[in-house]
Amino acid sequence: MSEVVSVLFGREDIRRRIEELGRSITGDYEGRAPVLISVLKGGTMFLADLIREIGLPVSVDYMALSRYGGAAESLGRVRIVKDLDEDIGGRDVILVEDIVDTGLTLGYLISVLESRGPTSVEVCALLDKTARRIAPLEIRYRGFECPDVFVVGYGLDFQERYRNVPDILAVHDLAALSEDPDQLFPYLPGGVPSRRDGSSG
Ligand code: IMP
Ligand code: MG
Repeated sequence: MSEVVSVLFGREDIRRRIEELGRSITGDYEGRAPVLISVLKGGTMFLADLIREIGLPVSVDYMALSRYGGAAESLGRVRIVKDLDEDIGGRDVILVEDIVDTGLTLGYLISVLESRGPTSVEVCALLDKTARRIAPLEIRYRGFECPDVFVVGYGLDFQERYRNVPDILAVHDLAALSEDPDQLFPYLPGGVPSRRDGSSG
């Protein structure tokens, strides 16, 4: 029997990679104070860990987006539910994302931000699912190349839960997991991944 989920990137690998990303950003932006922007909610954990590896006086800001259906969605157009608090005119912007999939959302977001006159806009994404890219975009800082599987944990949700799984998990059987999302329970802090629901045998 094949597993429904497995650990794709463990917490220690994630920590080390973020340390490297932080060091790169620190070097590249020496003498400047970039604003790091995270899109709620998935990217917030990555942002929180990333800024603590950056040796610059950065600021942070958040945006919340909601997707439209139909044609607008296929263009990546999104509605801004919560906009930035700060004006990014003349600022160095780093967009921090948990995962770039088709790239449509991010491509649209970059065009919105660029229209506000920032000095620069770069992307820092923890996971890059290049196989699914539709909108070409340059990801200056990339944590890991991600295989074309659904991933959960470290900020990424499964039906709005399990963002607090400390590792990044690959879902091998989405149908089975949808039937019983609590198969993720053992991956939570204090959970025991070998534990199985005794009633199902
Ligand atoms: P896209 O790049 O416009 O297709 O959308 C990217 C967004 O889709 C990410 O910010 C995530 O919120 C979500 N997403 C894409 N792939 C996954 C995944 O494997 N797990 C959880 N969320 C995902
Ligand atoms: Mg997201």
